[in-house]
Amino acid sequence: MTDTKTAAPDKAKPAPKDAIALLKADHSAVSDLFAEYEKTRSNPKKKALVAEICMALSVHAQIEEEIFYPAVKTALKDKLLVPEATVEHTTVKDLIAQLVGVEPDGEMYDAKVKVLSEYVKHHVKEEQTEMFPKAKTSSLDMVELGARMAARKTELMAQAA
Ligand SMILES: [Fe+2]
Ligand SMILES: [Fe+2]
Repeated sequence: MTDTKTAAPDKAKPAPKDAIALLKADHSAVSDLFAEYEKTRSNPKKKALVAEICMALSVHAQIEEEIFYPAVKTALKDKLLVPEATVEHTTVKDLIAQLVGVEPDGEMYDAKVKVLSEYVKHHVKEEQTEMFPKAKTSSLDMVELGARMAARKTELMAQAA
């Protein structure tokens, strides 16, 4: 039996030390959960995985919007990447709202999870290939930013649990 908790972010591993490492670790944890969803035929397991994915994505989006994006926007005087990513978060949240608390009932449910997975993949690619490399060249203190984000993440996960 596979334990769905194995892919939960930051359970066994020490917290990543800087902001970008933390965000990338979140991205890969969610990607693992989507991969696990693809493999499962069990509706209870699908529902549990989707609950975990939705919570992880919501907390992740919130720490980006509250802490990372504003810092990047200021440091890079960005008028493009952060606004675009923020709009994409709105779409992610719309898709999450269509899945939270819903019973897996066949192809439409699977389709929504698939669209969410593909959309998140696209969004993550833009962050990791455009926003993060630019942020790294800025004067931002990624360790300080990462510490604040890790603390906020812990707080939000506790609230959601
Ligand atoms: Fe994001
Ligand atoms: Fe992200």
